[in-house]
Amino acid sequence: MLHLIIPLLLCWSGAVDAAAAARPSFPTLHARTSTPRSGQNTIDGFGTSQAFQRAVQMSKLSEAEQRKALDLLFNTTSGGGLSILRNGIGSSPDMSSDHMVSIAPKNPGSPSASMTYSWDGSDNKQLWVSQEAQNRYIQLYKESNVTITHLGFLNEPELTTSYASMRSTAQQAVDFIKILHPTLAAANLSSPISIACCDAEGWSSQSSMLATLKSVDDMLGTITAHAYTSSPQSPMNSRHPVWQTEAADLQGAWTSAWYARGGAGEGWTWANNVYTAVVNANASAYLYWIGVQAGNTNSHMIHINNGKVEASKRLWALGSGAGLCGRARCGGHEWDGERDEDCGV
Ligand SMILES: *[C@@H]1O[C@H](CO)[C@@H](O)[C@H](O)[C@H]1NC(C)=O
Ligand SMILES: *[C@@H]1O[C@H](CO)[C@@H](O)[C@H](O)[C@H]1NC(C)=O
Ligand SMILES: *[C@@H]1O[C@H](CO)[C@@H](O)[C@H](O)[C@H]1NC(C)=O
Ligand SMILES: *[C@@H]1O[C@H](CO)[C@@H](O)[C@H](O)[C@H]1NC(C)=O
Repeated sequence: MLHLIIPLLLCWSGAVDAAAAARPSFPTLHARTSTPRSGQNTIDGFGTSQAFQRAVQMSKLSEAEQRKALDLLFNTTSGGGLSILRNGIGSSPDMSSDHMVSIAPKNPGSPSASMTYSWDGSDNKQLWVSQEAQNRYIQLYKESNVTITHLGFLNEPELTTSYASMRSTAQQAVDFIKILHPTLAAANLSSPISIACCDAEGWSSQSSMLATLKSVDDMLGTITAHAYTSSPQSPMNSRHPVWQTEAADLQGAWTSAWYARGGAGEGWTWANNVYTAVVNANASAYLYWIGVQAGNTNSHMIHINNGKVEASKRLWALGSGAGLCGRARCGGHEWDGERDEDCGV
């Protein structure tokens, strides 16, 4: 199974990862494999995204470097073993800059006119990454060989950008969920797709939408929030799993260090961020913004430099979580947050 939202997310179940010998060994967190006690956290997974043409960048690498990058992201023995892929659903007319082209790229002319859909079989190369992730690493096939499990319809609803963005209040989200939920059901898509909301820019701003969202609580499956304007520090008031779906050091110059001076992009910093989110804030999933891309910042975990890929220790910070959840990959196991020096994932 793969989690996708629009931000789309994919998550899949996989085998237990006992032999994680190829991974660097860091102090990590320990997963308990007993039956979760009620009210305790359950882990859905760890992940990243190749949205905004980063999947295209990846597809332009040599086959050997593509394989290396895919292994670094998804391989449970030699890589981070990530199990959630967050794909963007495009709303742009073309792929200029890093825009994601829409499946209905032509303006229909009026709200009542019907849309003309044109599926290009690529979806900004995200379909390729999704298929590679799922087919090669997980061996799970469906009709298109990708099963979408989570659908979100907002991204940072409090932000206006120069590229594609859409503002929404909590009440507007409620109004839309009342339409989206029966629409999915009518298309027989309610299972396995659950509705995720609302990918607010920060944990606190998402928290403040929850009271209004209560009126459609039964239609929701997952609460999603980013960590930019406020990071996950304490649990949200929701019975649904809460996912941290986007966090990154967007400014710092590329570093692959585990620890140098506690900088915003260092692996140790991200191990602590993941730990705080999962243990203190009851997050059930943690996603770093971008997996693989070029450019001299820490917005990504794996760097493309002159056609070669290089992993940062941020990847292994998430990989430690994913590795321990190798025992609970999307299986909804609790994590008691105990540090375990011997885990070696
Ligand atoms: C994962 O990595 C291991 C070690 O490099 C390799 O033997 C294996 O084939 C990889 N798995 C996949 C699905 O590519
Ligand atoms: C999905 O997998 C099946 C079995 O390997 C294959 O025949 C089919 O072409 C794949 N479909 C797509 C859309 O890739
Ligand atoms: C949904 O499933 C029902 C029952 O299997 C079937 O009758 C109906 O045609 C399906 N609808 C769609 C849109 O596939
Ligand atoms: C933690 O999240 C789970 C759902 O994943 C929920 O059942 C539980 O009530 C939450 N606990 C707290 C303390 O918020």
